Amino acid sequence: IHEDVCSQTGVTLSRYMMEMVRVNPELEEIESIFTSLQVACKALSNLVRTSSLSGLTGLEGDGGSINIQGEEQKKLDVIANDVLKKALRWNGKLATIASEEEDEPVDILKDNMGNPVFSNDILVEANGHYVAVFDPLDGSSNIDAGIPVGTIFGIFDQPECPIEFDNMKRSEDRCLQDALQPGTNLVAAGYCLYSSATTFVFTLGGGVHGFTLDERIGEFVLTHPNIKMPPRGKIYSLNEANRWDWDSPLQKYVTDIQQGLGDTKTRYSSRYIGSMVADVHRTLQYGGIFGYPADKKNPDGKLRLLYEAAPMAFLVEQAGGLALTGKHRIAEIPPVRVHQRVPCILGSRDDVLEMRRYYVESQ
Ligand code: AHG
Ligand code: MN
Ligand code: MN
Ligand code: MN
Repeated sequence: IHEDVCSQTGVTLSRYMMEMVRVNPELEEIESIFTSLQVACKALSNLVRTSSLSGLTGLEGDGGSINIQGEEQKKLDVIANDVLKKALRWNGKLATIASEEEDEPVDILKDNMGNPVFSNDILVEANGHYVAVFDPLDGSSNIDAGIPVGTIFGIFDQPECPIEFDNMKRSEDRCLQDALQPGTNLVAAGYCLYSSATTFVFTLGGGVHGFTLDERIGEFVLTHPNIKMPPRGKIYSLNEANRWDWDSPLQKYVTDIQQGLGDTKTRYSSRYIGSMVADVHRTLQYGGIFGYPADKKNPDGKLRLLYEAAPMAFLVEQAGGLALTGKHRIAEIPPVRVHQRVPCILGSRDDVLEMRRYYVESQ
């Protein structure tokens, strides 16, 4: 069924998930979480598309607040975070969420005042044991310029706990423990790209599939079955303004591929959108290499491990690519802080392996 459903472009995401659950009943709760994610991403697609209608929505520009990363929060950063929290709260399958726009992981079964949100008269039973980590609006500094932005998400199951925690007495450190898991623990990951089309791309561990929002029927339909990244590309995607602060193996690698001195002997072209979701979406399809490497100013790079680099690493590896810090596999790094950053270089297998050689040979 999986192959059959996968091959029928045009099948809706809802139908695809139903078929997946028929074959893998243990995915039933993930299906419910995906229903919430779909609703949130459709709402965000609409908000992003209309945010520049400033007279109508007033959603453009800064929200005047700073997040724990010290970043200026766009109004839409905060709104997108709320949209996702609400959508994910009401399916009752999640226990904890962590977000770029939340200081600490949140017990999603409680409201902002810490009171249980589910009372016994609400149909949905609050037995959530999944953990969602997300970047509600990736590339948000670009939003007022009409440049593509996206949402990134990852889903974990709760780790075994040494002692039994009662849901209602869950403490901050239980939520922290739920969230601080390496990419290898992810059971699902993906992104939604808000661009010329709204495309929802994800993996459940059985390959990567892309669904495009058909606005006429309000459904995500299968358009990119079983995405496989070309093993080699000819595009590099890095913010070259940081070039002189990169470590020397990377500077040498980029100089070589720019001059046609790399393995392929062809000169690479540069494409950098500045929205990770958009740069990864292109890399998944066209191949090549994307990165936000370490540099002298940012020894851990800029991208956050938990809700940017690790979910994207899961996707990229499922599509046949690689995702490294430079030398080490990103998916294996256990986070120690929710918002910790990690150097991230990902893309076509042969391109990333070639890049890695420069590090190994420089030792
Ligand atoms: P976010 O908007 O979620 O804070 O993430 C922005 C990230 C990522 O989307 C992108 O790859 C990177 O910032 C671009 O950083 P520079 O503008 O410094 O190149
Ligand atoms: Mn941000
Ligand atoms: Mn981001
Ligand atoms: Mn963001």
